[in-house]
Amino acid sequence: MQQLKLLLLLLFTTTTFTFSHAHNITRILADHPDFSTFNHYLTATHLADEINRRTTITVCALSNAAMSDILASHPSINTIKNVLSLHVLLDYFGAKKLHQITNGTALAATMFQATGSAPGSAGFVNITDLKGGKVGFGAEDNGGNLDAVFVKSVAEKPYNISVIQISKALTSDVAMAPAPGPSEVNLTGIMSAHGCKQFADALIANGEALNTYQDNAEGGLTVFCPLDDAFKAFFPKYKNLSKSDKTSFLEFLAVPVYQSLSMLKSNNGVMNTLATDGAKKFDFTVQNEGEEVTLKTKDRYCQDYRDFDR
Ligand SMILES: *[C@@H]1O[C@H](CO)[C@@H](O)[C@H](O)[C@H]1NC(C)=O
Ligand SMILES: *[C@@H]1O[C@H](CO)[C@@H](O)[C@H](O)[C@H]1NC(C)=O
Ligand SMILES: *[C@@H]1O[C@H](CO)[C@@H](O)[C@H](O)[C@H]1NC(C)=O
Ligand SMILES: *[C@@H]1O[C@H](CO)[C@@H](O)[C@H](O)[C@H]1NC(C)=O
Ligand SMILES: *[C@@H]1O[C@H](CO)[C@@H](O)[C@H](O)[C@H]1NC(C)=O
Ligand SMILES: *[C@@H]1O[C@H](CO)[C@@H](O)[C@H](O)[C@H]1NC(C)=O
Repeated sequence: MQQLKLLLLLLFTTTTFTFSHAHNITRILADHPDFSTFNHYLTATHLADEINRRTTITVCALSNAAMSDILASHPSINTIKNVLSLHVLLDYFGAKKLHQITNGTALAATMFQATGSAPGSAGFVNITDLKGGKVGFGAEDNGGNLDAVFVKSVAEKPYNISVIQISKALTSDVAMAPAPGPSEVNLTGIMSAHGCKQFADALIANGEALNTYQDNAEGGLTVFCPLDDAFKAFFPKYKNLSKSDKTSFLEFLAVPVYQSLSMLKSNNGVMNTLATDGAKKFDFTVQNEGEEVTLKTKDRYCQDYRDFDR
């Protein structure tokens, strides 16, 4: 059995690899039928995984009625993701803290801002204590309008996660802007930006494998992409492979389902890859040890691959 350690590149997510099982937003919201639409979309956009992985976080939950305002214009799933990620604050605001903000006003960074999808100051939320004990919320790029107010605390686990209800969706032109669907995402661009440029270039040079990746991006795709130094060292051997073996190797490093790191961790066992084709087996086994996820394989490509890891 050979082992390989690769950078796990997840479409739909940023690459933050610290996570905890301290909370489960899906389960927290499941007790509240009035947030069922919001909860559904947290799962559909994979924001739930991101939320579960982080601590010191505040989720501004929207009622089913507030969600229907967002859905009325039939936004794409990626636009919904941007809008909902604006509702996840990267700080802990329990009911008490909301009413005791220093100087009565604060700007909170959000998951929208953290994903890098938001330009400039878009992606920050203004929280201001208003007259009569109200707390107003507004997207920073919303012309100073605090159009939503705090309704109630839904769940508090200090200082891991606070779930609060706000009266309506935070409006932001930037977040609502049409976002590309997953199949239009520039896969090789994302890889290059995350230290896998050599691998991305190899993929670009191989039309068949690139098409396979693109075809699978819509349904969710997890890529275990080798970092540049590793791939450079392997490149003389890679160059030597036949065209179809190159394709198999490239396709071997992707799994045609979305797997977050926490999903991989709870998923010991054999996984099919894009190169799996009936009897020609190209699969690997996921094995967990503590915080580390190891992929094990019997395939010869990965024995080759392992060579440069030493
Ligand atoms: C969170 O809770 C939901 C609903 O109970 C469950 O389906 C899901 O597997 C849980 N997620 C994790 C990471 O435990
Ligand atoms: C609160 O206001 C004071 C006086 O204007 C200022 O010095 C301080 O930095 C402010 N605190 C915060 C957290 O904004
Ligand atoms: C938040 O918005 C209010 C109202 O537009 C404004 O007075 C306040 O300065 C803003 N707070 C911050 C921290 O930008
Ligand atoms: C917060 O998370 C930590 C683990 O990250 C856990 O030990 C602790 O019990 C959690 N606190 C609450 C209140 O759930
Ligand atoms: C994708 O990104 C790569 C690298 O950044 C770039 O060279 C290429 O032109 C992009 N392709 C498209 C279709 O935008
Ligand atoms: C490439 O293939 C040839 C012929 O099979 C072999 O002799 C050579 O050692 C290989 N080179 C590398 C770097 O694997």
